[in-house]
Amino acid sequence: MQAAWFERPGPAHEVLAVGEWDTPMPRSNEVRVRLYASAVNPSDVKKRAGAQPAGLETGAVIPHSDGAGVIDAVGPGVSKARMGERVWVYQAQYQRRFGTAAQFVALPAQRAVKLPEKISFEIGACLGIPAMTAHRAVFADGMVEGRTLLITGASGRVGHYAVQWAKWEGARVIATVGNSEHTVAVADAGADHVINFRRQDVADSVMELTGGVGVDQVVDVEFGVNLETSLKVLKTGGTITTYSSTQSPEPKIPFYPMMFQNIAIRLILVYNMPESAKRQATTHITDYLENDRFIHRVAEIYPLEDIAKAHESIERGGSSGAVIVDIS
Ligand SMILES: NC(=O)c1ccc[n+]([C@@H]2O[C@H](COP(=O)([O-])OP(=O)(O)OC[C@H]3O[C@@H](n4cnc5c(N)ncnc54)[C@H](OP(=O)(O)O)[C@@H]3O)[C@@H](O)[C@H]2O)c1
Repeated sequence: MQAAWFERPGPAHEVLAVGEWDTPMPRSNEVRVRLYASAVNPSDVKKRAGAQPAGLETGAVIPHSDGAGVIDAVGPGVSKARMGERVWVYQAQYQRRFGTAAQFVALPAQRAVKLPEKISFEIGACLGIPAMTAHRAVFADGMVEGRTLLITGASGRVGHYAVQWAKWEGARVIATVGNSEHTVAVADAGADHVINFRRQDVADSVMELTGGVGVDQVVDVEFGVNLETSLKVLKTGGTITTYSSTQSPEPKIPFYPMMFQNIAIRLILVYNMPESAKRQATTHITDYLENDRFIHRVAEIYPLEDIAKAHESIERGGSSGAVIVDIS
């Protein structure tokens, strides 16, 4: 099969190779998927760059966790009825060496989720990390009907799905974006109010919008740099649910002010969240796909030969939506 791989961490254009690789065979309780689209997410490029463990200790790594395609073989323990099923896959390269940047991947059967006929493979590849992280970030502490959420970085891959989950499930959504060009898209996704965090004082705006009451939950993309603002806008007993703190990886916690406010901090890692949460997310995603509830955004599509460019695009940032590698 054709695949992309890296044998050592480093810059994308130096370490990513594209060529022939052995086609995998599915083992017990695995399916093999003929992939047509593979998505690049920030954690894929962090692993390739050496900033996060990639699994290189035992040999070369085929990158990327998310993708979509058709099941073409099943291992012992998996119903043959799944042959020919269109699927989206998640966590293909979590604690495993061989991900979705290839024509075929073999992975545990539950990581391949049925993709409705009307949904393209490019869209299927957008779902794993972004939509599942957003699901956990919004619902980890229960449903949100009647609650007010501040969702930061709402034009990001995760943030955009978080706005949609929260709005469809009955929350009032206040969202932040870093560029006013994204205001309309985030409002279309369901945000009731959109604040430009680079131009406006987020805390003042939120307090004005909520009549001085504040919000129940902050779903946050940059925990450390936003902490002061989060504490200004959270109600007593509120929760900060966060999946990243890239700009401030070791933030200082103001313990007593947070204790006096009864604030909960919920950290999210999509890869090892409870299996029950993964099942809830995949079931909920299927329901939304079948009922045309989601707005998806594919920003860029690269052929497999240009996978290094796709990685560099994620590293540059600023792309509004998924960066996809086409493997047709
Ligand atoms: N824990 C997990 O399981 C998990 C899962 C998925 C992603 N992540 C991490 O989450 C981060 C975002 O991932 P992504 O794919 O959604 O990236 P993305 O599409 O690049 O989105 C990031 C968003 O954050 C915004 N932003 C930057 N600084 C901000 C700030 N101070 N306040 C509010 N928003 C801010 C950006 O706005 P501008 O574009 O205007 O700068 C952008 O819209 C990455 O670090 C990724 O590794 C973690």
